Amino acid sequence: MIEAFEKSQGPWADVEKYVGRYAGMDFSPDIIDHAKGTYLFTESGEKILDFTSGQMSSTLGHSNPEIVTTLQQTVQRLDHLYSGMLSRPNINLSKNIASKTGENLKKVIPLSTGSEVNEAALRMAKLVTGKFEVVSFNKSWHGVTQASAGATYASARKSGAPTSPGQLSIPTPYTYRPNFFNSEGEYDWHKELDYGFEMVDAQSVGSLAACIVEPIVSGGGILVPPKGYLAALKEKCRERGMLLIFDEAQTSLGRTGEWFAYQYDDVEPDILTLSKTLGSGLPLAALVTTDKIEKKAHEKGFLFYTSHVNDPLVAAVGCTVMNIIERDNLCQVTKEKDKLC
Ligand SMILES: Cc1ncc(COP(=O)(O)O)c(C=O)c1O
Repeated sequence: MIEAFEKSQGPWADVEKYVGRYAGMDFSPDIIDHAKGTYLFTESGEKILDFTSGQMSSTLGHSNPEIVTTLQQTVQRLDHLYSGMLSRPNINLSKNIASKTGENLKKVIPLSTGSEVNEAALRMAKLVTGKFEVVSFNKSWHGVTQASAGATYASARKSGAPTSPGQLSIPTPYTYRPNFFNSEGEYDWHKELDYGFEMVDAQSVGSLAACIVEPIVSGGGILVPPKGYLAALKEKCRERGMLLIFDEAQTSLGRTGEWFAYQYDDVEPDILTLSKTLGSGLPLAALVTTDKIEKKAHEKGFLFYTSHVNDPLVAAVGCTVMNIIERDNLCQVTKEKDKLC
């Protein structure tokens, strides 16, 4: 490890010369040679348990053999298409996702990354409501593009430049270290939520479009909201004509024992965004919304036409990921493992 960290020799000399930095910190101190299942293998011969599961994305482990086969078989027939064209893998992926999201969330737009899909969700919410203000938790991470970064408070905010206009934050519910108490000295999340929206109402210019949150906060600490919180949050949104967006980059696809974490509280969002876990490490994301919202957005000219929207190769991977989770009953497996903790 120490040797590998030696900056003046081997690959690190090339890193110093050629590799641009993007994380505000040093790279991990060893070069990864390959990855398999839950392990990483470094050039210096170490075998490391990958607790990060890639960038929190490798739902089914690295180089899962069935995903490798899907990639090999698909790429020979279909890799990438003109963005206005459809193929079976996209249609199947959308249908698979819609079969798990319940009655209302039925329309799916497959994209590539978490930042991008949140960007799309916020754009759609602004278009459909005709408003522009966005509320999110003060410990949020929704991405690095303009709108998703604007709704991000956990870090990476202090660039000194303006974010998207109309960004407002509310306190993140935090059962373990609460700031709001009732007369018995217990955590009072109702008071916290009311206070948050009092602040929102005071600061809003009357153009509240959406509230975007994770149903379990990940990047800001693993913070599970108290039972009833998400329903109360949805009610606050309803009262103000705002759309509720759940960002399930980290919490979906069986990670919490359900397909989607919002299913624990049975509080359906207006727009659901999926990313990381859906491609099990490959760049795949999906925006999921209702017929009504999709129709309204389309009629108002919704445009999110990227080069990789509806790409067939990663859509085929998404189908394989979902099929494995279903076939191997991985939601149940997660629940069983949780009981052991
Ligand atoms: C909850 C959440 N949303 C969105 C993102 C952004 O996703 P991406 O890095 O794929 O753009 C992340 C990334 O860590 C995330 O944790």
